[in-house]
Amino acid sequence: MASLGSSRISGRSSVVEFPRIRRSSFIKSSRIGFRVFASEAQQEPDLSITVNGLHMPNPFVIGSGPPGTNYTVMKRAFDEGWGAVIAKTVSLDAAKVVNVTPRYARLRAGANGSAKGQIIGWENIELISDRPLETMLKEFKQLKEEYPDRILIASIMEEYDKAAWEELIERVEETGVDAFEINFSCPHGMPERKMGAAVGQDCVLLEEVCGWINAKATIPVWAKMTPNITDISEPARVALTSGCEGIAAINTIMSVMGINLETLRPEPCVEGYSTPGGYSSKAVHPIALGKVMRIAQMMKSEFGDKDYSLSGIGGVESGGDAAEFILLGANTVQGPWVWLKGRRTGLHWCDDARVGVVKKTLRRDEGFHEKHNFSSLKISEGLALPYFTTHTDFGTEAARRDSTKKSDKQGCKSDKDWTEMLCKRDREHGVLTEIFHCIFGS
Ligand SMILES: Cc1cc2nc3c(=O)[nH]c(=O)nc-3n(C[C@H](O)[C@H](O)[C@H](O)COP(=O)(O)O)c2cc1C
Repeated sequence: MASLGSSRISGRSSVVEFPRIRRSSFIKSSRIGFRVFASEAQQEPDLSITVNGLHMPNPFVIGSGPPGTNYTVMKRAFDEGWGAVIAKTVSLDAAKVVNVTPRYARLRAGANGSAKGQIIGWENIELISDRPLETMLKEFKQLKEEYPDRILIASIMEEYDKAAWEELIERVEETGVDAFEINFSCPHGMPERKMGAAVGQDCVLLEEVCGWINAKATIPVWAKMTPNITDISEPARVALTSGCEGIAAINTIMSVMGINLETLRPEPCVEGYSTPGGYSSKAVHPIALGKVMRIAQMMKSEFGDKDYSLSGIGGVESGGDAAEFILLGANTVQGPWVWLKGRRTGLHWCDDARVGVVKKTLRRDEGFHEKHNFSSLKISEGLALPYFTTHTDFGTEAARRDSTKKSDKQGCKSDKDWTEMLCKRDREHGVLTEIFHCIFGS
């Protein structure tokens, strides 16, 4: 592996030089979603994390898509305090990428898709970046020069061609980006060229391409997985055994947004025709949680003691949504939704002001740290994970476990009693939800 340059972590008054992370020198201990520490000297929560040796001020990451299109939007994300930014996917030859208009369609909650209903689903047939690679590389370099302490991740994709992958990796690494996310998951357009989901859905192909990538890359590599497959843990396993340091999931779900009942044509309609696209936003959140849960279970059971990372993506619209991914075992959470919602919603839950509010909240509540053992509180990922079982187990294992709480059950004459009893037990088990709500205010 080639040796790497240096990356800096700067505070207001000081700048500390850190060696840039070599793939072989990851910090083993930190597969932690995020940590909240408060000592007597330092009463403020520290949301910073280190994953695969990448230090981030918080685990909230701009996912690949429109908010990573160019220098201006990525710079804004850094200025707003996002933990890391993943740029829009690039490939060697942008001239092959032809983006059409319209390329988005929305699903609204409300009667007959009423124009007034809340947008809950979003379909896009947008391809990867159509900007010249040279332009994107120049902007990556500029961002790294201006924000040396912030994590910039390049999302890349290429055709089934070893030399092309190697060239792309080399040219992108030269800009100083901190890691790669490999787009094995775009469901539209690119699979026709044996790219994106075409690779992520074929474990044999995936293993070979991951082998090329990991032999060449000298910075951490995350594999971004497609949900458009029966068992997402299978390609995730292949990516990890083939040398990737992390998994990101999910990309969009193959969808047809609808048929226009006036024109009888499918939407979004480009000169009378459409093509299935990728579904995202709020409506996919439960599906994304399900996929991430499967990957997290597999990672825990098969790669448990190693420093692999997991990035949760899909329908994150609040801190609570993000916390759910972390509770399932994700270390970071991605949210391209910010582009869709913009500043209007005030959902900038990780900008300085928001973090400031969090810190104030914690400071104001004098008993809070003690009550929640904040003096050395470490909220680790995956705390909800052990609470998944099989349906069959509800009647056996789970029932046996529950029988130890027989006293609780007495008096449970209805579903309502049972729910209340479970809620009570949840409260006894921990204050986790409360902590998350306090931190994220959601
Ligand atoms: C308009 C649009 C463009 C996207 N472009 C990319 C892309 O270039 N590369 C990529 O890996 N994912 C891309 N995605 C997928 C997102 O990064 C994300 O995986 C997906 O939208 C699910 O997350 P969400 O529900 O929070 O939007 C795109 C999503 C949208 C909506």
